[in-house]
Amino acid sequence: MGSPGERGVLVPAPDVPLDDSLPDALRRAAPPALPEMSQPHVLRHYLRLSQENLGVDLNIDVGQGTCTMKYSPKVNDQFVRDPKVAELHPLQDERTVQGVLEIMHRLEGLLREISGMARFSLQPGAGSAAIYANVSMIRAYFAARGEAGQRDEVITTIFSHPSNAACAKTAGYKVITLYPDADGYPDIEALKQAVGPRTAALFITNPEDTGLFNPRIEEFVRIVHDAGGLCAYDQANANGILGITRARDAGFDLCHFNLHKTFSTPHACGGPAAGACGVTEELAPYLPTPTVEFDGDRYHLDDDRPASIGKIRPFYGVVPNLVRAYAWIMSMGGAGLREAAEVAVLNNNYLMAKVLEIRGASVPYAAGRPRIEQVRYSWERLAEETGVHSEDLGLRTADFGTHYWTSHHPYVVPEPMTLEPTESYSKADLDEYAAILAEVAREAYEEPETVRTAPHRSTVHRTREDVLDDPATWAVTWRAYRRKVLQK
Ligand SMILES: Cc1ncc(COP(=O)(O)O)c(C=O)c1O
Repeated sequence: MGSPGERGVLVPAPDVPLDDSLPDALRRAAPPALPEMSQPHVLRHYLRLSQENLGVDLNIDVGQGTCTMKYSPKVNDQFVRDPKVAELHPLQDERTVQGVLEIMHRLEGLLREISGMARFSLQPGAGSAAIYANVSMIRAYFAARGEAGQRDEVITTIFSHPSNAACAKTAGYKVITLYPDADGYPDIEALKQAVGPRTAALFITNPEDTGLFNPRIEEFVRIVHDAGGLCAYDQANANGILGITRARDAGFDLCHFNLHKTFSTPHACGGPAAGACGVTEELAPYLPTPTVEFDGDRYHLDDDRPASIGKIRPFYGVVPNLVRAYAWIMSMGGAGLREAAEVAVLNNNYLMAKVLEIRGASVPYAAGRPRIEQVRYSWERLAEETGVHSEDLGLRTADFGTHYWTSHHPYVVPEPMTLEPTESYSKADLDEYAAILAEVAREAYEEPETVRTAPHRSTVHRTREDVLDDPATWAVTWRAYRRKVLQK
């Protein structure tokens, strides 16, 4: 994009010729191929790119169900940008970072209160990293009891987030997956068949990604405990149950929260995430190192924890997001958290009623029953009648300025679409979103080609999904991309 000689900054000529001051071995043979551009060009380039985005700060981000795309209050970013936080160095002496350690310690206290668990680690860099930490702690716990070889199975459910099965598998467990009963809840009879002396743990999301809350969750926990297994609660879907139910009260031994979902901090794709995993007193020795401790006088980081599963990421976790989550919880207060949950549930059920008025839409399982904070809809009837698929509908909504993203793996619900309005959207926003969906469904019936070939107003038309599922095409660096994909 640049042109030779164009400059953003004029660098004064050095007093001493460079040739004299740099040894031969450090000199480049040729100048680096940097773009030669003026500042206005660079500014225009990045501003234009930013305008090609869709996201929670730009549109009604209801179409990214399972991700709890709530508003990240900008005042919380101000705290993070404060030099008192932004200029901390992770290698600073503990005595000079007492403030941020206090925030982490207090945040842990709040999460303990919200979940009923005894201790938390704020280290994991995402929900899946927290689940992996939890499964690692379970493995360490059984190893310490001499039962590691014997307990080699993890039970989960098909509508628990797939990272539960994936983490258990990665940690070396055989995974047993329960399917729903006729009502859409995980089949308790199947659980009774699955548990036994080989059960290490149950990993379950509740409410599941269908938005259904399992009313027999305590019974599930009891059955697994009776078989000697542990129970881990994926609380990443906690946005509709904050202040209403608690993992420990239902008997769970471990749980995790996605701070970037329930507690309003930015998400992984759009910023670093933060998962927090909580455990009972009995499992606390296995938490990742370091933990933040307070001796009544000073805060300190405790690395001297011999039973710990060890370090799971550099330094202390994604500290800016811990500060944001702390600020959000403190600004809401206990009653505010519960109100956020209630509004999220109300919004979700309001949107469900509107979507069900649209031709071709349905909600599989537990017909007529309310959902918690999200719904996995099906456009099966619309697809049968028009040949237009749910993915096409979602992409067409982008032409109306809304964000859509698939997160329905594994594909059990035919033609799925998962919507999660959170508490951040007004009734007018939800009406607008439902009107967009209704318009797109109308098009599917009356001018299907428009929908099938969408989006029409995006910079990138359609990305190929098949390559996402094919490790042979993955490349995490530009060099790897050149080597693997461009074969250069
Ligand atoms: C219920 C549930 N569990 C786990 C995860 C995984 O979290 P992450 O994407 O931060 O790894 C998600 C992601 O949204 C989720 O919805």
